[in-house]
Amino acid sequence: MFAARRAASTTLARGFSTSAAAPFKCAVLGAAGGIGQPLSLLLKGNPLVTKLSSHLSPPSPFSPTRFYTVSPYVLANVEQLALYDVRGAPGVAADISHVNTASEVKGYEQNDIKSALEGADVVIIPAGVPRKPGMTRDDLFNTNASIVQTLAEAAAQYAPKALIGIISNPVNSTVPIFAEVYKKAGVYDPKRLFGITTLDVVRSSRFLGEIKDKDPKDVAVTVVGGHSGVTIIPLLSQTEAGKDVAGEAYKALVHRIQFGGDEVVQAKAGTGSATLSMGYAGARFADALLRALDGQTNVVEPTFVDSPLFKDQGVDFFASNVVLGPEGVKEILPLGPLSAAEEDLLKAAIPELAKNIKKGVDFVKSQ
Ligand code: NAD
Ligand code: LMR
Repeated sequence: MFAARRAASTTLARGFSTSAAAPFKCAVLGAAGGIGQPLSLLLKGNPLVTKLSSHLSPPSPFSPTRFYTVSPYVLANVEQLALYDVRGAPGVAADISHVNTASEVKGYEQNDIKSALEGADVVIIPAGVPRKPGMTRDDLFNTNASIVQTLAEAAAQYAPKALIGIISNPVNSTVPIFAEVYKKAGVYDPKRLFGITTLDVVRSSRFLGEIKDKDPKDVAVTVVGGHSGVTIIPLLSQTEAGKDVAGEAYKALVHRIQFGGDEVVQAKAGTGSATLSMGYAGARFADALLRALDGQTNVVEPTFVDSPLFKDQGVDFFASNVVLGPEGVKEILPLGPLSAAEEDLLKAAIPELAKNIKKGVDFVKSQ
């Protein structure tokens, strides 16, 4: 059913200003967790915004449309929201299903991942354990690598053509794990796999907006590299509001963006890491994938993908601005001009990224 209606919708390639229902199935794996719940709620949506969605003006060319509060496009276009978790997903689904937007919500338990995944157009994965104070994201590898591998094996079997967005940390390693599992299964399409780095973009615009006393909606920052510490590279020099930030203020801002996750981990004092801001960021990225699937052009988001940009330096995956299309990655955009400070950040990131990526690849290859 989904496939037939999907074909109709992509050929129509509707403009952004319509709100007619389109037919996408979106699955969330890890839906009952700290991120999974607000993410699923945002995907289910806000009825007020649904009403307003017909009044939205079309996005400007290559506008990343980065500042959704709730995603009107998702509201109008998700026909089924499939919520899967090893525990608690049916309860979360029952709760969210009462929100009065059009999409159907179903919860799936551990033995029913097949039904959750079959027919899915977009699969967002926030499954896995979060950090506690004192831990790095890499410290999560031992637990989360196996979780992501198991989910990749299921997705390879039941939804090999879906667009996959990975939130589970360490993203720099879990995305390569996912890719290796797909390669083993003979279904790898590098265009369809994304590490979600949107939280770094969201933080950058918020933190820069704060120090410049500007509304974050007017402050777009491209963030490239990866998703942990020194691999997070905000390209402030390419942003009107950020290009004159210098000296200690520049260092402090870059540090806050690179280690924003630690701020939340410390404040939550052992109960987890960012969940609500990540739910928001994950919903925004899912929205971008859905708009691209539906034929909207000029959808651009920074995301961690299989990328040619630094392969010659042993880095097979890299986050940069990516033009999204109905098949996933349409075009990987170059970084553009970097300041001397950004060149330094890049130099520091490359060896760390290479190490993180290799760790993920080796994990699957060694089995
Ligand atoms: P959480 O513990 O609150 O939730 C994780 C959920 O995953 C739980 O409901 C758990 O039951 C489920 N789960 C575990 N194994 C599973 C499996 N095999 N299949 C399906 N579900 C499974 O954790 P959280 O705070 O939601 O964080 C989840 C992950 O997201 C962590 O690894 C965290 O580090 C990461 N994260 C990433 C970003 C990012 O920017 N990419 C931001 C924040 C957190
Ligand atoms: C974040 O950036 O908030 C996430 O990656 C979670 C974490 O461990 O910091």
